[in-house]
Amino acid sequence: MNEVLTAPTLDLHPKAAVMSDAERAERMKNPGFGKVFTEHMVVIPYKDGVWGRGELKAYGPIAFDPAASVLHYGQAIFEGFKAYRQPDGGTATFRPFENAKRFNTSAARLAMPAIPEERFVEAADALIRQEDKWVPNAVGESLYLRPLMVATEAALGVRPAKEYLFVLFASPSGAYFSGGVKPVTVWISEDYVRAAPGGTGFAKCAGNYAASLIAQAQATEKGCDQVVWLDAVHREFVEEMGGMNIFFVYQEGGREIVVTPELTGTLLPGVTRKSLLDLAQELGYGAEERKISVSEWNAALKEGRMTEAFACGTAAVITPIGKVKSTKGEWLIHNGETGPVATKLREALLALQHGQKADTHGWMHKVK
Ligand code: COI
Repeated sequence: MNEVLTAPTLDLHPKAAVMSDAERAERMKNPGFGKVFTEHMVVIPYKDGVWGRGELKAYGPIAFDPAASVLHYGQAIFEGFKAYRQPDGGTATFRPFENAKRFNTSAARLAMPAIPEERFVEAADALIRQEDKWVPNAVGESLYLRPLMVATEAALGVRPAKEYLFVLFASPSGAYFSGGVKPVTVWISEDYVRAAPGGTGFAKCAGNYAASLIAQAQATEKGCDQVVWLDAVHREFVEEMGGMNIFFVYQEGGREIVVTPELTGTLLPGVTRKSLLDLAQELGYGAEERKISVSEWNAALKEGRMTEAFACGTAAVITPIGKVKSTKGEWLIHNGETGPVATKLREALLALQHGQKADTHGWMHKVK
């Protein structure tokens, strides 16, 4: 799908007058996550087998025909990645082509058209340039980009739609969880599963998140912050935490090994997950992808072989897990506190993203 763009495919129609500096500063004060949106968005229509010209325009509601197939049969996918302020005052995104690739993997699973990766990144670069003043300066804050695609064709037959809309908007973001980087308590779900073999677990589709909400509500009822998902077949192997990948830290032969569940098709292949596996090795830790059962989790903690657990994702970066609850009991991890490996990995990733550490991997994409 890589297509070199010889000319811009976006028409730029920014607002005649943007928000005052004072009002923007007010809105960016405590951005939290996903509550404040910038002033522009990009839309790109797909019809008759081709993507049309895109448009950067004022942020605002989108009208759909009531028969639009996304409203009935749920062809809806999305992505999430961030733009970070750099020490020279410029901005850069983190591995946006990885998100473009995963977007197209999700699209393929939902029988939706792929968008050329170059157009996905072109749209993001144009929006970030337009919204430069909305990119926060503080380390740990960023401009979150939310690309999505929905089926817009008005047709009630159950088949892939023939018309789609790609939309991209942006949101200044700080901490994902209201408690900041405090360890969370998780509930191991036995009543619900997130994804089954052959299903859509590896795709970032809206339906996966809709189906997770009742389990999240149950976790809340049990006094927990987040749900931990087990595999659908054995109900034994740990898959994810909420909408994030999960990591465990083992002590083996005087060395720390970070272990994350292997990608089986039911897990989301996280860009942060993949990046942490590399960063961990650079920091001198071992890194493994394999299956981890709940009984192993419990036993390794009891025996002192496991010292930390944390979740990772674009939105929250790294979130330590301090306590685990299930129908079989509850146990603490690292005394309920953030461990040193989670802290070091988080700092290393943020330093790289904010341009404070050399980008030896070519992960940063300069925007401005
Ligand atoms: C992330 O961790 O970035 C996620 O995908 C969660 C998001 C749906 C808010």
